Amino acid sequence: MFQVNDNYQKLPGSYLFSTIAKKVNAYSDANPDKKLIRLGIGDVTQPIAPAILDALHKAVDEMGRPETFHGYAPDLGYEFLRSAIAENDYKARGCDISADEIFVSDGAKSDSGNIQEIFSVDNRIAVCDPVYPVYVDSNVMAGRTGTYDPATERWSNVIYMPCTKENGFVPEFPKETPDIIYLCLPNNPTGTTITRAQLQEWVDYANKVGAVIIYDGAYEAYISEDDVAHSIYECEGARTCAIEIKSFSKNAGFTGVRLGYTVVPKDLKCGEVSLHAMWARRHGTKFNGAPYIVQRAGEAVYSEAGKAQLKEQVAYYMRNASVIKTGLQEAGYEVFGGVNAPYIWLKTPGQMTSWEFFDYLLENANVVGTPGSGFGPSGEGYFRLTAFGAYENTLEALERIKAL
Ligand code: MLT
Repeated sequence: MFQVNDNYQKLPGSYLFSTIAKKVNAYSDANPDKKLIRLGIGDVTQPIAPAILDALHKAVDEMGRPETFHGYAPDLGYEFLRSAIAENDYKARGCDISADEIFVSDGAKSDSGNIQEIFSVDNRIAVCDPVYPVYVDSNVMAGRTGTYDPATERWSNVIYMPCTKENGFVPEFPKETPDIIYLCLPNNPTGTTITRAQLQEWVDYANKVGAVIIYDGAYEAYISEDDVAHSIYECEGARTCAIEIKSFSKNAGFTGVRLGYTVVPKDLKCGEVSLHAMWARRHGTKFNGAPYIVQRAGEAVYSEAGKAQLKEQVAYYMRNASVIKTGLQEAGYEVFGGVNAPYIWLKTPGQMTSWEFFDYLLENANVVGTPGSGFGPSGEGYFRLTAFGAYENTLEALERIKAL
């Protein structure tokens, strides 16, 4: 008789955004006349930029001619894209990362869920609390997290680094020594970040204790302040302790197109074992490469026209962030984030729990957000709004919230 992976049975509830979608659909079905404004999941709303669309069309046409047709992509990514990434995201910023240290994939969510596979099941992970649920859930599935305590909403074998108003949402070095440290900066969900100097301290710490940092830089394009690092490889010593995961979803609107990449430097080793070689092996076995047409679209992100158009797109979303932030402040809310990230993190009013505020907002303003407690116990009493909506909808949502 077959047996299932029991670790899956330990997962409490469903994936956060699936739970929200179910609740919102039920409300919508029961109230078909209400116009909902969705500022919940961080999904983009602006169309693909023209320079990228041109590249997609061109690549599609190439697929229709025998002489330019492409079958399986190289499993680590096409050279043209890996070089464009190395040049623009790293060399241009003074980071020592070469094209062959970049692994192209179908997105940062897959990579951040899969990367734990190359580590021992005995390793202990440290995560920020609140945290993007994929890091914890994927380690639960692998059997690395111990047992779940519903009372504390914590796993026995996970080290939590609370990010609260009191510490400015900056994680502190944990008392127990972790093997794997997940950092998402600028942060999802709090929309806050740390300075380059603070990130350097994390790199020094990881090198000192022999930990690896899994650095999720999905929101890097939204950084507006000079003292914030765009890549962990801006920090000295990061090549021996950090893996960086990047997405094309948020900077180029690829949530539906799917493209991302992971950097595993060749200097990152466990004794004599190269993590670069391990990830290459894993990629080669389990992944057949992101589609050619999508990688051509990714290449266009780095063209002069692409860069200019995406700069405008990011500015469009950050104008929303400012509308949300100032609107909420005018309405008397305590608000964080929204300066270097497209997320606004607000304190729920009147001691409401995160889910109470979710229902309140849904029913009274017909605005959908994300309950902070869905990201971890330290998120209780907080709520996340995304700046990825359309500008007009964002304005209307804030008018509705102010009128409550
Ligand atoms: C979010 O809303 O937190 C993100 O959209 C999730 C993701 O990027 O997978």
